[in-house]
Amino acid sequence: MHKIRTRITELFDIRYPVIQGGMIWCAGWELASAVSMAGGLGLIGSGSMTPDILRHHIRKTRKATNAPFGVNIPLIYQHAAGNIEVVLKEKIPVVFTSAGNPAQWTRQMKDAGIRVVHVVSTLRFAEKAATAGVDAIVAEGFEAGGHNGREETTTMVLVPWIRKHLSLPLIAAGGIASGETMLAALALGADGVQLGSRFAISAEASCHPDFKKAVILAGEGATRLAMKQLMPVRLLENSFSQRIASLEEAGAGTEALKNMLGKGRAKKGMFDGDLEEGELEIGQVAVQIDDIKPVAVIMKRITDEFLTALNRISNLKDHFQI
Ligand SMILES: Cc1cc2nc3c(=O)[nH]c(=O)nc-3n(C[C@H](O)[C@H](O)[C@H](O)COP(=O)(O)O)c2cc1C
Repeated sequence: MHKIRTRITELFDIRYPVIQGGMIWCAGWELASAVSMAGGLGLIGSGSMTPDILRHHIRKTRKATNAPFGVNIPLIYQHAAGNIEVVLKEKIPVVFTSAGNPAQWTRQMKDAGIRVVHVVSTLRFAEKAATAGVDAIVAEGFEAGGHNGREETTTMVLVPWIRKHLSLPLIAAGGIASGETMLAALALGADGVQLGSRFAISAEASCHPDFKKAVILAGEGATRLAMKQLMPVRLLENSFSQRIASLEEAGAGTEALKNMLGKGRAKKGMFDGDLEEGELEIGQVAVQIDDIKPVAVIMKRITDEFLTALNRISNLKDHFQI
């Protein structure tokens, strides 16, 4: 069994520098434990969980595996404070925070011995996270599924830019679903990768099977960034996203967008499987995803592709003359 060693595998005590993004409505205990058992770092996505539900998922993950796993907490979420209390009480070793101010909770979690990682889409936010004392950063590019940066900076530009300015362990996210793109991310200066869309479309993800099938059928350009002025999010195009786009093109303000969004759209789309009226969060890489396999199969494929690509690139040395 192979192992790929980087600062990220050392930090989390895992075999491969592959993190599974903590995703609302997709990443419960089944997905997190499967990724951790396959040698990556599984994250429970607490952004769609109350504290009681999160506690349940943590305990189920612990029953399923002894491997390290973590929890993702979007900081602007209404249950963020309650969920942070749960991770402290349950002595969770790793927390990935996102969508909010890292200065608010990082110190308290670090004092409790938790390794804290924050997700950013710009260097400015990366520097804020570094000042707050995080152990590592996720640099998430514009290709990514889910919530996204307003600046629209792609992974290819963001990762080397942050690498140039910060020495912290760095995890690249956005558009990565294969061993080749994983190798490319490491070449750009990342120490690991975070995959969302690829793991959302796996056997163990808790999202609705119809959502998974819709992603498999998605072609080029099937996703778009919506609600840029409210809270930018990359969605698979459907009736709901088209209505939002029409409103935006007509110059609608944030109130009109909020009214159109309403409540519970993400659950409606990804968990209940309403493919027309729900919010379907997925990345540009949807076009490359064409099967729903168990995590163990996906992870083996990615690590095999990584090694093949690494060998191919290493062979270039033979043709390189100074
Ligand atoms: C369905 C879905 C839900 C997501 N939910 C969250 C979330 O709750 N918290 C978070 O930090 N990131 C969330 N993300 C972003 C992922 O964690 C990850 O950073 C991103 O998907 C990486 O880009 P990729 O989709 O191209 O792999 C979500 C992504 C998807 C596809």
